[in-house]
Amino acid sequence: MTQYRDILDRLARGREVSQEELAELVTLSGEPRVLDYARGLAREVRQEWYGHKVYLRGLVEISSHCSGGCYYCGLRAENRSLERYSLSEEQIMEACREGYALGLRSFVLQGGQMMDLEERIANLVVALKSAMPDAAVTLSLGEQPSSTYEAWRKAGADRYLLRHETASAEHYAQLHPARMSFAERLACLEELHRLGYQRGAGFMVGTPGQTNEMLAHEVEFLKDLSPEMVGIGPFIPQKDTPLGGMARGDVATTLMMLSLVRAVLPKALMPATTALATTAGNGTLLGVLSGANVVMPNITPRQYRGSYAIYDGKKSSGTESAEGIERLAEELHSIGYEATMTRGDHPDFPGSEVKQ
Ligand code: 5AD
Repeated sequence: MTQYRDILDRLARGREVSQEELAELVTLSGEPRVLDYARGLAREVRQEWYGHKVYLRGLVEISSHCSGGCYYCGLRAENRSLERYSLSEEQIMEACREGYALGLRSFVLQGGQMMDLEERIANLVVALKSAMPDAAVTLSLGEQPSSTYEAWRKAGADRYLLRHETASAEHYAQLHPARMSFAERLACLEELHRLGYQRGAGFMVGTPGQTNEMLAHEVEFLKDLSPEMVGIGPFIPQKDTPLGGMARGDVATTLMMLSLVRAVLPKALMPATTALATTAGNGTLLGVLSGANVVMPNITPRQYRGSYAIYDGKKSSGTESAEGIERLAEELHSIGYEATMTRGDHPDFPGSEVKQ
């Protein structure tokens, strides 16, 4: 236990830290002294590139139709009790225009994984980019053929979010049906990188069967992969899924994981996730105080928000929403951080306003 400072200091300096040592830190997430030290270090590391800025991205949940079968997710194709929706191009454009009027210059279009999206999304990206040329467009529409990723990139998409969900192939197989594979997920992430996207990976904390050794491995995996963005949130059961009866992920462990990943990826854009905000009342601020530097307010038209039920109780109002941006900015200010609505590109990408 007395070694934890030494391990964390080495981690933040890019020195050698063993998997056993990392797993030990994860095990100590519940020890306030250890967690506080890890979070303090994460804040120091994030300051090197980002100071106290927190980038806001407007999140539009464009469709809840999904062909995926992820055992943890309420949008899985096998869930017949979910009322599905798909927003029209005009509805999506309008949501972004409203966000733009509020000052947002970065939009995330997220939806279930479907086969027939290529043309519609390409047209949408072109329309968005011509209406709001100074805004960044991030897509998050699951696994797609390379040719589709390429078409969307050519249409002007800047970034793509595709969490790897777990860096353990074995655990991946426990969380997904046989038609999905970890190898395929990695191949998609590789392809996104090759096509010049800023890409986002990420994982859940506390999925049933996950061990502290697996969480330790996440740190090493992400350091090697070095994605521009990393989303980390606690698992939250969704009642109509095979994992609906399981326990939710733990907040302290999530904050420890955020801190550890921040320690090894100083330049990454890391959201304080909605799952974290759903699990802890002050989750957004806890995340920011653990090295997160992005918040994604929900700008989906209100009447659809309840139907994007990836997990139970999902927060989509208050400071998690467009309506709450001002209050979010105030809350961030109260802990010494500054809400920022510029594009917020990764510092290695051309034109990034993040200071070198
Ligand atoms: N709990 C927490 N996060 C979840 N996600 C999907 N289902 C759940 C859940 N039950 C996350 C996955 C996915 C992202 C869009 O949401 O990591 O990649």
